Amino acid sequence: MLSVLTSFLCFLCAALRTAQIYDAHNPLCRDILRPNNNMDLASLTAVWWAVALLFITVLVTKISRARVTTVDLHRTTGQLPPLVNGVALLKLLPTLLNKGLPAMVNDLYVKYGSVFMVSSFGVKVTLLIGPEVTAHFFQGLESEISHGNLFEFTVPMFGEAVGYGRDTATRTEQMRFHIEALRPSRLRSHVYPMLQEVEGYFAKWGEEGIVDLKLEFEKLLMLISSRCLLGKEVRENMFDEVYTLFHEIEDNGVTLISFLFPYLPTPANRKRDKARIRLTQILSDVVDSRKNSGRVEDDTLQKLIDSKYKDGRPTTVEEVVGLIIGLLFAGKHTSSHTSTWTAACLLSHPTFLRAAIEEQQQISSKYKDMGLDYNAFIEMDTLHSCIKEALRKHPPTPMLVRRAHKQFMVKTKEGKEYDIPQDHIVATPTIVTNNISYIYKDPQVYDPCRFGPERREDKVGGKFSYTSFSGGRHICTGEAYAYMQLKVIWSHLLRNFELELISPFPKTDWGKFLPEPQGKLLVKYKRNGIL
Ligand code: HEM
Repeated sequence: MLSVLTSFLCFLCAALRTAQIYDAHNPLCRDILRPNNNMDLASLTAVWWAVALLFITVLVTKISRARVTTVDLHRTTGQLPPLVNGVALLKLLPTLLNKGLPAMVNDLYVKYGSVFMVSSFGVKVTLLIGPEVTAHFFQGLESEISHGNLFEFTVPMFGEAVGYGRDTATRTEQMRFHIEALRPSRLRSHVYPMLQEVEGYFAKWGEEGIVDLKLEFEKLLMLISSRCLLGKEVRENMFDEVYTLFHEIEDNGVTLISFLFPYLPTPANRKRDKARIRLTQILSDVVDSRKNSGRVEDDTLQKLIDSKYKDGRPTTVEEVVGLIIGLLFAGKHTSSHTSTWTAACLLSHPTFLRAAIEEQQQISSKYKDMGLDYNAFIEMDTLHSCIKEALRKHPPTPMLVRRAHKQFMVKTKEGKEYDIPQDHIVATPTIVTNNISYIYKDPQVYDPCRFGPERREDKVGGKFSYTSFSGGRHICTGEAYAYMQLKVIWSHLLRNFELELISPFPKTDWGKFLPEPQGKLLVKYKRNGIL
């Protein structure tokens, strides 16, 4: 959930590079750039600049809104980070347009170092880049640094009973329910249902053909979520309706207007509310029916039903429903984008593809008699590293954002100390951290071996060198679950199909709410059944 939300800031910044997204080779873009279109590229760029700057200002103002105090710079004891003002930002426009958002932030990093402040329309955002300066960002107490009210717009999506509809103490307890429901030891029971879903899904493919893997992954992952998270009642009897309602909530709940004004009676907000009421009704019936019949299932919904607050109070039906919708939301795009990037990376790097297939051969023969189980998937280190490396290069949440409630100090690798003032918005760009060259050797290269026992680049660089799943207090609760489902899918594909990427390696579509692989990922498959 949070992952989707934090990257919203990136989405706004990403609008700045729209001109680059409108690639003249792309038929969709050709339409936009056609001469009879009233806007030429330059004016489009200018409009996007204006819109994006406005959006960023409104967004940051909104985050700061909860408690606006004037930052008294003289109260600071040390030095403030170097300031990048609007003019300096404008000078980076060509980099943004020609090379993209990560390149622009990286240029700032190279020029100003690991800590700098970006100022636009009088609003300041401090960027922290690299493990040396992000410890407090990730580990600070909620009372010192938190998401602020950035995620307020999730309240009408998940309901007032959970998350940002509640006070910090209750929300922290609810986060514990998520952690416990998805803890790695609980994953064992998910492996068999995941395998069944995956085998059933790919059994419907023909002997050979061409598919858009991006779309295929999206559908399959929703089936897995509905089975493992929501449970068999939903999967077997009402998948289509639940899937449609979830889409309605998501499509209408994460528009820019809904994000900024979640309670405005716009048509989109009304559709979102209507869909949530119906989805809540359906899921509440499922929860009630389990409670009344005493039936206990082995899925995440059940774990949330069984969760208890510290004072012994069990979760209410409304809370269980809100918590499970939040999980669906958190895992959906992050997982499907990761599986698509993994496909693009693996299928365009034959050496690693071969290594991943060889690993499948070894593990399949080891588990020939008992069949692949939890332990078998845990042993798939090569595949794990291939996914992790795809995520390093293409994190679905390229920027994480917090608000400092108390001033704090950071010390850079070079020993410089800076004060980050109270009430500042603080951001850390995963996309840049994951590519720091003193941590990752040849960071631009797709090289899963960097995570192997000899190199362990993500570990030797420090605790927060690899932040695709965030870190510390808000580290992704679903990391182990996400890896497991991706490995179950990829293990099946590698064991049963020859795959060939026939569309170009995708660019990143920064114009989306969550940056994603742009366009279709067309893959030619042929069933081989060798393993
Ligand atoms: C490859 C897939 C995934 C990626 C890359 C990812 C990434 C992230 C990131 C970066 C955050 C933290 C945001 C922040 O610090 O502000 C996060 C939080 C979270 N994720 Fe994931 N996620 C993935 C899959 C999942 C799945 C499958 C689930 C659930 C089934 C899930 C559940 C959550 C939850 C509940 C949080 C909130 C944690 C908290 O605030 O305490 N994620 N995720």
